[in-house]
Amino acid sequence: MRQPLVIGNWKMNGSLAFTSELLHTLEDRIDDKISCEVGVCTPFVYIKLATELTANSVIKVGAQTVSEFKAGAYTGEVSALMLKELGADWVLVGHSERRTLFNEVNAALVQKVLAAQSAGLTPVYCMGETEADYKSGHTFSVIADQIGALLDSDDVDLNNLVLAYEPVWAIGTGLTATPDEAQKVHAFIRTLVKEKNIKSAEGLRILYGGSVKPDNALSLFGQDDIDGGLIGGASLDADAFISICQQA
Ligand code: 13P
Repeated sequence: MRQPLVIGNWKMNGSLAFTSELLHTLEDRIDDKISCEVGVCTPFVYIKLATELTANSVIKVGAQTVSEFKAGAYTGEVSALMLKELGADWVLVGHSERRTLFNEVNAALVQKVLAAQSAGLTPVYCMGETEADYKSGHTFSVIADQIGALLDSDDVDLNNLVLAYEPVWAIGTGLTATPDEAQKVHAFIRTLVKEKNIKSAEGLRILYGGSVKPDNALSLFGQDDIDGGLIGGASLDADAFISICQQA
């Protein structure tokens, strides 16, 4: 049985005041009666504050990206060890905004997953097809390529990993894959992981992301291979995020 997981991806939003207010509200209202695991991925600069504010709650904090390098002359980068020291538990790797806006490619993303795991973080490896891929029927080949890069590496620990399927055309657009469409992709991802390691595949959580809102969360999370959500816009609104967590 996989415990559902809901992670908020705040992207580059917020301020000190906003972060503190939202986390106080979440800390107050999300307690151990909630049956899903809950995470928030804040901008780097708020991670320490977030881990302090959530220290006595079930909420776990994460980052939105990480360097593939351990240390050294990499101006502007933040290492996995630094994130761990701040108290982070998760890190998103390969979000479509990183892939498209910052040219992150599979080979570097696999290194980021390895860097995160070796520092004791759990990477959330994100995959998804563009609108053009979707319309031309290439969803499954794009996903196979993105997950394939990870599965080709024998060093990746499949037992300390979360996967996320986020169709790019559904992110921030108000469009979502139908529960049935999303389930097919999630089942496909799990099958590919099974070919590598059946036991890990059964325990592996695969989140869905892309315009998840309180009014569509239940039908998505009700699918066999959808183990929770990666939430963008709705994670910035306490009521919406809590409702999504309750539905998970
Ligand atoms: P939205 O929920 O705003 O569509 O964003 C999804 C996302 O990118 C989460 O990582």
